[in-house]
Amino acid sequence: MRRAIYPGSFDPVTNGHLDIIGRGCKLFDEIIIAILVNPDKRPFFSIEERRGMLEVVLKTIERRDCLLRVDAFEGLLVHYAVAQEAHAIVRGIRAISDYEYELQMALMNRRLEPSIETVFMMPAETYSYVSSRLVKEVFQLGGELKGLVPPLVEARMKEKVKG
Ligand code: PNS
Repeated sequence: MRRAIYPGSFDPVTNGHLDIIGRGCKLFDEIIIAILVNPDKRPFFSIEERRGMLEVVLKTIERRDCLLRVDAFEGLLVHYAVAQEAHAIVRGIRAISDYEYELQMALMNRRLEPSIETVFMMPAETYSYVSSRLVKEVFQLGGELKGLVPPLVEARMKEKVKG
């Protein structure tokens, strides 16, 4: 049973995240999509809203026999990964610009917990420029989100600003 953690803010989940999870399903028997609880950040969606959306949109991806679970964690990622008896951490790398930060985190995580491997995966080129940060910016400035996030996420973003 190979278990991986796919950590992130997922504020909101994008089609790029889903692409990575689908690819991860080719390598792992179980992937825990772990939302970081970060009290220092003011998120667009609450942890519960993010978790709810992830649970719905995960049903749409090609998962083969891979188990997908959504969870939230606080504190050090490697502590959480060990507690979950995970073998690996999955991170998506879109461009060289991601690599420097991701390498730093992967090496720090390895130093903290040598038993956990970090696996970098590349999303489809279509998603190479998609990030949660840009999705929120484009949305807030009235741009089109079709194809960047699942329709449910776009609908929830619109509901959120209507209040
Ligand atoms: O999607 P993000 O926001 O780029 O994800 C960043 C995340 C959650 C992977 C990273 O911030 C993280 O692992 N935070 C947990 C705290 C921790 O372990 N810090 C040390 C990392 S070397």
